[in-house]
Amino acid sequence: MDLSTAFGQDAVPKLAQNTPFLLDTAEEFLKQIRQNETGVVQICAANSFSRFPFMATAEYLYSPLKDSEKEELWSLGQQSLALMGSVLAGGVFRFEVSRWLKPQVYKQLAQFEKDWVNLNERIVQARRASSEPSATVIVQAWEAMEAGIISKKEMIQTLSEMLFANLDVSTHVLSWLVIFLAKHTDIQRELRQEIKTNTKSLMELCGKKDSLLHRCFLESIRLRPFTVFTIPERSPQTKILGGYIVPPNTSVVVDTLSINHNPQFWGDDCTEFNPRRLQKLPLTDLRYNLFTFGFGSRKCLGQHFAEAMMKAFICQLLVQYEIGLPITDNKAGIDSGTHRKDTWVPISNIHITLSSLEDN
Ligand code: HEM
Repeated sequence: MDLSTAFGQDAVPKLAQNTPFLLDTAEEFLKQIRQNETGVVQICAANSFSRFPFMATAEYLYSPLKDSEKEELWSLGQQSLALMGSVLAGGVFRFEVSRWLKPQVYKQLAQFEKDWVNLNERIVQARRASSEPSATVIVQAWEAMEAGIISKKEMIQTLSEMLFANLDVSTHVLSWLVIFLAKHTDIQRELRQEIKTNTKSLMELCGKKDSLLHRCFLESIRLRPFTVFTIPERSPQTKILGGYIVPPNTSVVVDTLSINHNPQFWGDDCTEFNPRRLQKLPLTDLRYNLFTFGFGSRKCLGQHFAEAMMKAFICQLLVQYEIGLPITDNKAGIDSGTHRKDTWVPISNIHITLSSLEDN
């Protein structure tokens, strides 16, 4: 499989190219949120913002989407998340026999796959008939498939991973970054200042690795990686890891939380949100001490796009709003917040307050 040729080097996400699109999309999204609102509003960060990373990724892949296409995608996303419950339950669902033992779920999966292929084929057909078909990522990727660079199954599953598997992942990462900034108002103020100083060059700011914006992003993802253990991987060969012999086909997971919260590297305040700590650390030290987008050949294909998406959203959010925590949550602390139990990534239920800076 050559995913990077189909979606990567040429077609996909180069940070500098995508940031203007992401900044505009974030601005538009936030405008919609405040349409009916005046004064201070209280919202659940995850619920209110989850459509942004989903729709931004979708519009990047498919070019501007009609409202009906957006709704169809969103509805398929919800079906995919429901089916993910069975994937995580494992057991019988790992084997073909589930077709007979769990016919209802099997039927739902078959219907989902059919609808998903169908929607993609319709969109490709429509974009090919448009004035600039080759400018669309999905058309380029489809051409790679037709040229035999990637199989149809791999293409369809990768698209599904980009959009649906990432719905909870991106929601989790974005909402925690917002929540930490809502809690740490001093850092929020400093970050807003950095954004305002760079108003004319937000694109460059989003691409920088030595900015407070970047440090806030890393510190947030350090404290709340999207899973506390990685998705299992196994090798058909014997491996030696840290002096231990790992027999072939043994599932191995990485304990991300113990890397990201390791007090020996991160210090006694390792569970505190303190982006300033990253200022002193060389990026090379982070290589083995921070889990963010995975390692090696399974590393996230959308890393640069995801990073730009989160940063563009924060830039637009902080330009428009002062964010805070409702008094009750502030007293109780964000760690006492509850989580949704019906998602594959534990999505926080924490609420934040938004006060429009234009009202001041
Ligand atoms: C902040 C948000 C995100 C985080 C933290 C994240 C993290 C990860 C991680 C850790 C993996 C490796 C999973 C494994 O062990 O198999 C992964 C895989 C992947 N991610 Fe992301 N991801 C994010 C957003 C995105 C976005 C927005 C896209 C698409 C535009 C994307 C596309 C993919 C794909 C296609 C894979 C599978 C790569 C492969 O198996 O070759 N991700 N992601």
